[in-house]
Amino acid sequence: MTTMPTSRSRQRCELCGTEASELDPSAVCVKCGGLLEVVHWGVTSEASLRARFRERRAATSGADVSGVWRYRELVLPSATSDEIITQPEGNTPLIARRAIAAWAGVERLLIKHEGHNPTGSFKDRGMTVAITQARRAGARAVACASTGNTSASLAAYAALAEMPAFVFVPAGNVALGKLAQTIAYGAQTLVVRGNFDACLALVREASMRLGVHLLNSINPFRVEGQKTIALELLEQLDWDAPDWIALPAGNLGNTSAIGKGLREAYELGLVSRVPRIAAVQAEGAAPFAASFADGFATHLRVDPHTVATAIKIGDPASWNRAVRAIRDTNGTVLAVSDEEILEAKAVIDAAGVGCEPASAASVAGVAKLRREGAIRADERVVAVLTGHILKDPGIILKYHQETDPPPLHANRPIEIDARIEDVQRMFDRIQ
Ligand code: F0G
Repeated sequence: MTTMPTSRSRQRCELCGTEASELDPSAVCVKCGGLLEVVHWGVTSEASLRARFRERRAATSGADVSGVWRYRELVLPSATSDEIITQPEGNTPLIARRAIAAWAGVERLLIKHEGHNPTGSFKDRGMTVAITQARRAGARAVACASTGNTSASLAAYAALAEMPAFVFVPAGNVALGKLAQTIAYGAQTLVVRGNFDACLALVREASMRLGVHLLNSINPFRVEGQKTIALELLEQLDWDAPDWIALPAGNLGNTSAIGKGLREAYELGLVSRVPRIAAVQAEGAAPFAASFADGFATHLRVDPHTVATAIKIGDPASWNRAVRAIRDTNGTVLAVSDEEILEAKAVIDAAGVGCEPASAASVAGVAKLRREGAIRADERVVAVLTGHILKDPGIILKYHQETDPPPLHANRPIEIDARIEDVQRMFDRIQ
């Protein structure tokens, strides 16, 4: 049986504090253009919350099955079951793999695999909330800019909601699986001759001028859904917080969301301490890491380059929110090279877990922080894998078949004639 939440929410500008009702469809603050955040009040005690979350785990149908809406008191309490548009999403595994832990040098490393979401990435958590809210606010069409995962997710949820969807993606910079999904789910796909940052600027202008509802992670309801990664992993650990949570960082929506989730979990007494966030960027697209190094004194933009196309972003939109997340959690920001990302990915893949390149930045970041001594060998670390291995099949074949000389973990397929002697020769080599 579902217990109805008693808490309520409103939107508030993060810069000037101007408030807006929960159903206000504006993409940003109407007074100053700042980003909005959702604030909740009237949330019940932590004991009762824990009991409700647990109780909903027994559900076999409806929104309670979702690993996002299970936490609805902290997400969008006023949405009724009839209004919620869910696949469902979340309920992703928290797994231990010896080979990955050994490579990173952290014995108590756990992997939160968000690639297990319905469209294969963590984006589904934010999208279920944002599309639900878009429909409640009367949106007729939805749009986003994307490096591929947001667009795939938006396309799928818009199809579910039977709403027209427009996505803006950078030409030549979206991995095959993501582009295929976006097209197949039926979104109108606009391939922009420019990078992600140009796509985002364009869709922001389009949403303002043409009234289409913006579903990028600057949308505060995306943040509310996305923060359930943190809530779910804390619940999976029986509310015994780990020392670190490592995640890849691009547009900084996820860093912000996890920061908000941790802050609220702590303020509500769900956990007694806050894990440190380690936000990991790719070296060629690391303005936030560079800014962290000087205490966030400067807000930087770069011309981004990296093989991890998901995080090939030079001008992250959720900058201020993410600064707060890092400060609130005594976190850190670092950059890893493409070589480190690809090696981490090869280790994750060969362990039978698998992820897309950007996701592997989290594990590469843990290994680097361990080498530098920032993470101690006995600390408990959760690395978030944000996307599924099949998102970017092209890079896998390139790494294993075409890299010369073959990298450490290369697994080269061998073509043979259909003769048992050829097979025998191969077996003899292995045994
Ligand atoms: N990992 C993956 C697989 C991503 O797709 C993204 C972002 C990130 C990490 C970084 O998250 O942007 O919140 O810091 N992808 C966006 C997209 C930009 O359009 O799919 P972030």
